[in-house]
Amino acid sequence: MIKRKKNIVSKRQVTPDQFLGEKLKFSATEAYKLLRTNLFFCLPEGNDYTCPTVGVTSSVQGEGKSTTSINLAYMLAENGKRVCLVEGDLRAPTFNSRLKLNNSVGLSHILANMEADLGNVLTNTMHENLWVVPAGDIPPNPAELLGSNRMDQFINALKEGFNYIVVDLPPITVVADALAVSGTLDGILVVVQEGKTTKRELSDAMQRLEMIHDKILGFVITHAESARGKYGRKYGKKYGYGYGYGGKRSEKSAER
Ligand SMILES: Nc1ncnc2c1ncn2[C@@H]1O[C@H](COP(=O)(O)OP(=O)(O)O)[C@@H](O)[C@H]1O
Ligand SMILES: [Mg+2]
Repeated sequence: MIKRKKNIVSKRQVTPDQFLGEKLKFSATEAYKLLRTNLFFCLPEGNDYTCPTVGVTSSVQGEGKSTTSINLAYMLAENGKRVCLVEGDLRAPTFNSRLKLNNSVGLSHILANMEADLGNVLTNTMHENLWVVPAGDIPPNPAELLGSNRMDQFINALKEGFNYIVVDLPPITVVADALAVSGTLDGILVVVQEGKTTKRELSDAMQRLEMIHDKILGFVITHAESARGKYGRKYGKKYGYGYGYGGKRSEKSAER
């Protein structure tokens, strides 16, 4: 059973944490903008995709999926797109605390048909063009809910009102949830944490993903050390970020 809390509709601007949105350092902002540009190439709005939907996943927990999703969504909003960011990691939700939201209802309530509708799960945050659907209460059966027809219907309903939809997915190798939903999305980004994600974890994740999805857009490298440039030597602790396609990658980092 999903526990219901008080239904609060929240539509307000909030202050993001220092590693999100406008609080990011210059180089990190530039790197996320580069990711946005590549997304525009891979999933352009228009002919094939009326409202492109992109999922962000990784092999295991803690590699930077939520941070990447939030910053990508923010950069798309900055570019004038109307963006909906959906928190699809129903087991480890962080949006309410990270984005300082007040929503007690979210995706799980919609999927469980619990009298929640778009109007009370959508929250405007960080930017006037950016709307968020938080995960809601943790359900006992996330994979079942995320793989249901209601998830398809929900995403399709969102497409009516937005230019881009970004879905923060759960990790691939730990639970089946991300696989359950990823097939319904137009493209998937895979987050890899430098120095942490092992080859085995990544290849396991890719094998699983490739079985059900043919549009894996590329990799986002997080926590990337950039001791090569002058900033690396000067500042020590870095906010690293990079992206890659087909095994190649470029990398940027900003001081933390
Ligand atoms: N590019 C990055 N460089 C450095 N730290 C990062 C980066 N992306 C995320 N983090 C940090 O890593 C931690 C886990 O990130 P999070 O996005 O919550 O991971 P996940 O959603 O994959 O569990 C957070 O403390 C976040 O601030
Ligand atoms: Mg997360």
